[in-house]
Amino acid sequence: MAEKLWKGRFELPTDKLVEEYTASIHFDRRLYRYDIEGSIAHCRMLAECGIISHEEASSIVQTLGEIDRDIERGMVVLDSSQEDIHMAVENELTARIGETGGKLHTARSRNDQVALDMRLYMLDALSSILDLVREVLATLVAMAERHIEVIMPGFTHLQHAQPILFSHHLMAYYEMFGRDFARFSDCLTRTDVMPLGSAALAGAGFPIDMEWTARQLGFSKVVANSIDAVGDRDYLIEFCSASAILMMHVSRLAEELIIWSSPEFAFIEISDAFCTGSSIMPQKKNPDVPELMRGKTGRVYGNLVALLTVTKGLPLAYDRDLQEDKEPVFDTVDTLLATLRLLSKMLPEIRINRETMARMAAHNFTLATDLADYLVRRDVPFRKAHHVVGQVVQYCIRNGKELTDCSLDEFKTFHKAFDEDVFQYLDISNVIDRRRSIGGTATSRVKEAIARAREELEACKPYSRENRKPEK
Ligand code: ARG
Repeated sequence: MAEKLWKGRFELPTDKLVEEYTASIHFDRRLYRYDIEGSIAHCRMLAECGIISHEEASSIVQTLGEIDRDIERGMVVLDSSQEDIHMAVENELTARIGETGGKLHTARSRNDQVALDMRLYMLDALSSILDLVREVLATLVAMAERHIEVIMPGFTHLQHAQPILFSHHLMAYYEMFGRDFARFSDCLTRTDVMPLGSAALAGAGFPIDMEWTARQLGFSKVVANSIDAVGDRDYLIEFCSASAILMMHVSRLAEELIIWSSPEFAFIEISDAFCTGSSIMPQKKNPDVPELMRGKTGRVYGNLVALLTVTKGLPLAYDRDLQEDKEPVFDTVDTLLATLRLLSKMLPEIRINRETMARMAAHNFTLATDLADYLVRRDVPFRKAHHVVGQVVQYCIRNGKELTDCSLDEFKTFHKAFDEDVFQYLDISNVIDRRRSIGGTATSRVKEAIARAREELEACKPYSRENRKPEK
């Protein structure tokens, strides 16, 4: 059993159940790399500032490097008697180099240490997530470009509304995921703040150089208030919130893929590689991947609510409740990484049934607005035109016709302003390309949007903490 680093004021050993109840090592072990990286920077800083000697520092730094490798190879026992990863690493250090190891914890506490570890972890997680969101964006743009000729019905209330370009629909998701990208980038700026040196809550009573530590670790800023530094979990809540919104977008897309691949729609076919079969029905090919994307959205929402609830009403500064921040965050990161990776792999493999989409685009009176607009251009007030076309639609329904099945004479019985050119006006390409308002579905506008997206993607530089560290 490991020695408790805080055992000094205690007479009795810790109850076994308490040890298990309070331990976080089984989940915070995932932070070991960051814990060691932070400790190395801290230790070097202590030596730079003359708080410990350079010899002591180099022995600590070297041993921490060895511990890092040994943990990676599974050669260090990490169990609940160690409480958490911070104590485990420090215990291991002292076991290897004796008393000198005990100097590492000068001018810091586990409260600022865990705050640092989580920020380091999140900077890397955010960097990977930003890369993956960028990949989804690039995938959507490539698909929009490839399928620029595909026409489909646009929906409102899941009822056929008006014809649109399939690419326009895809580019709507580009906008949605683009906002997610911006939210994660924004969250990154508030994560990129170095808290080590805030110690328990009041700051350190040694002449430490927090700016130095920040530079070593690739942070752009140092915290402004030590109390806030150890109690702040806003950046994690922001992350979970941005993740919940992202997953909501993923689940809307997933839902569309699911219904579009049903035989009732038959707009698309999801590749076999992303579907699974049924144990009883031999004919089945189920869209499990998008279903699970939709399903996993629930756990990501749950993680956000968990974090908000854990932090609600907590008195400043650090409270042990805050240890409960990690599992929801880790689970969110894991879910996002897996989901985003799969999404940009699955999307390009989808087969598009362009004939079915095009056929349905003009089906169910999706051209009715244009028929009314036609009358408006002939000086009929829109409300009147709306009513007239409503009656045309009613007539068509009774007689089992589409709008374009009507003859000019039939149109004329509803309004005298109808003329020969009405059929040209209802031609589906014309219908689409007339919608040239900013952000509209006209081919010219969609091509513009695609070009703009390409420029945006080109211009955004990946974040890397590694590149911000000083040259070794
Ligand atoms: N395992 C703790 C956490 O994750 C580390 C900080 C503990 N600090 C303390 N004073 N008990 O929050």
